[in-house]
Amino acid sequence: MIGTGQEGDKRWIGGNLWRGGGAARGAGPVPRVWPRRPRPRGGGGGAAPLPPGGGGGGPGRPDHRRGPGRPPTPVLAAADWTCRVLVGGLSPATVYWYRFIDDKGAGSRIGRTITAPRANDPRPVRFAFVSCNSVNEGAQNAYARMIWEDQRAAADRKLGFVLHLGDFIYEVVEYPEEVPHRYSRTVYDLGHIPDARKVGNFYVPTNLAGYRHVYRAHIDDPDIQDARAYLPFVCMGDNHEFSWQGWQSFIKYGAAVEPAQPLRVAANQAWWEYIPSRVRKASGAALEQFSPPVVEKAAIDTFDDDGFGTETNNRIAVGSMTAYRALRYGKHVDLILTDLHSYKAADPTDRPEAAALDSGDYPVIPQEWLEIVDGGRDYAGGKPPAIIAIGDKSIPNYRKDEPAHTVLGREQKAWLKAQLTQSTATWKIWGATNGTLDMRTDPQNLPAGLVKDRWPGRDYGTFGGGDMSGAFAERAEIYDLVRDEKIPGFVTVSGDRHSFWAGYAAPALPPAGFAPVGLSFITGSISAPGLGEAAEFFKESALRPLYVRKVEGAPPEHTINLTIKRGVRSALEYAASGDIEAARALTNPDVAPHLEFVDMAGHGYAVVSAGPNTIETEFVCIVRPIARAETPDGGPLRYRVSHHAQMWQPGARPRLEQRIVEGDAKLSI
Ligand SMILES: [Fe+2]
Repeated sequence: MIGTGQEGDKRWIGGNLWRGGGAARGAGPVPRVWPRRPRPRGGGGGAAPLPPGGGGGGPGRPDHRRGPGRPPTPVLAAADWTCRVLVGGLSPATVYWYRFIDDKGAGSRIGRTITAPRANDPRPVRFAFVSCNSVNEGAQNAYARMIWEDQRAAADRKLGFVLHLGDFIYEVVEYPEEVPHRYSRTVYDLGHIPDARKVGNFYVPTNLAGYRHVYRAHIDDPDIQDARAYLPFVCMGDNHEFSWQGWQSFIKYGAAVEPAQPLRVAANQAWWEYIPSRVRKASGAALEQFSPPVVEKAAIDTFDDDGFGTETNNRIAVGSMTAYRALRYGKHVDLILTDLHSYKAADPTDRPEAAALDSGDYPVIPQEWLEIVDGGRDYAGGKPPAIIAIGDKSIPNYRKDEPAHTVLGREQKAWLKAQLTQSTATWKIWGATNGTLDMRTDPQNLPAGLVKDRWPGRDYGTFGGGDMSGAFAERAEIYDLVRDEKIPGFVTVSGDRHSFWAGYAAPALPPAGFAPVGLSFITGSISAPGLGEAAEFFKESALRPLYVRKVEGAPPEHTINLTIKRGVRSALEYAASGDIEAARALTNPDVAPHLEFVDMAGHGYAVVSAGPNTIETEFVCIVRPIARAETPDGGPLRYRVSHHAQMWQPGARPRLEQRIVEGDAKLSI
């Protein structure tokens, strides 16, 4: 059923190649393997995982050891012809090869997986973390690069698994006959989503068939197939697995918020069918099918003390699957994965009442405004202001009687805290799907007259809101726990931002102080376009130099990195002179003491190496993945940068050391 040893004979004669399936590892050496069988002509069928070559190590073949005997696994139409098996009795920290063979003798391609090391295994742990696969607007060259490098790595530098932090799919799909290009991208044809709803230039699923279509379109990508066949994937969804602007079972297009309980269930079901994982579902532990609960679309207009909609169908829909979970990986890593969309309260900045405060002149909002609406009735120790005054505008504080904002929700937050305090691993790695690092700048330092009306804020302006970095109170609650409980080795890893970030987990920034309690990293997208790329297409304006420097005959340069890391004076200097030393000399040291690296135009992946005393995160940045690379290495790199830290004593400041291994990242460091 599953073989060990060297790479096997990858040919399979006499059957279809099924769509590839990787395997995700649960806690301990129990991989879950997953293929999708092409829809059979007439009727269902069964499949059994068998070793490449059918079992038994013949001459020139790897040593296949049969796993424990098991009955054939059904492949059901009700699961969209996907199937899952959970295999026990395997050795820890071991490479296995597997494939599935159906009752007609047709076989899947051969997959490879790696079991987790035991909790006392002292060897360093090495894994990649990734996010944001856009097959509609890009190529998944980053996976080709990852495989290429791993196949050539020394035994102790090979990856154990890939952590996928969400946007495995984009449910928003463009059709190339309508939208042939966006930014610098070619729009690739993913077919038409059945029963789609049109939103602007995009089509989105309205039901299970729609989500299944989108998943199939993503896993048809050859590089995604190769990656899932080569490495175990541990996945957690972000927003696009359900709906771009969705939360709980709400969807939102434009200003209109709609309940969408059946859609939430459909999204969970398709995720469960297409993403190998060990998560809880309401229908029980059976692996054959999701067996969705029946829910109705109904208004959700009452909320508990954590902003969770109490409407019955909302509870059932969100509860159809519980994905947050923790995985132990050797002596050194506890991987604690949270779901930042299923339990999240409505975004407090995204309320109609707030519109009156925002002039629209600036791309950021005053930090104090976000802090007030985030804190709700708990702001300033339970003394929120009656009005929110920004410059010459003021509105009643619409949040003063409402609970503090939560992204995690009550139960998940309690669970996260328990995981952090109880972990015995060297490194407690929080997989927070969206970025925990503040994204802000200092518009108070813009030259007078650059924008008609002067900056109305007290000091800093934030791009935040909507992700973990804008959940100031909740993030501080977690970070204060790390500080108070003296939890060593706290690290966050995130995706979603379509950009590479390295820095420190800090509950507050100047002028409120700066006392980091851990390290934070965000990976660039595998392929989805980021803000740096979008900015290349901004119309010329007084503020455009804060995003991009365009000089005739030269590639655009992303001054937004300087705006965020060093402040507006630094960015404007570089935009004017192209002199990085002059730009660095104008750094505002208080704008981003939490950042060591920002690249808003980077794509690729990040690799963590976690050992007994040190942790290293390497960013592998590829060139913009507009078309599939023609070389097996996934195409050229822009840069490779390593961020390295020694374990710190509780209460002491962690320190990152940076090394540019290759390429140029001068606007990012
Ligand atoms: Fe994304």
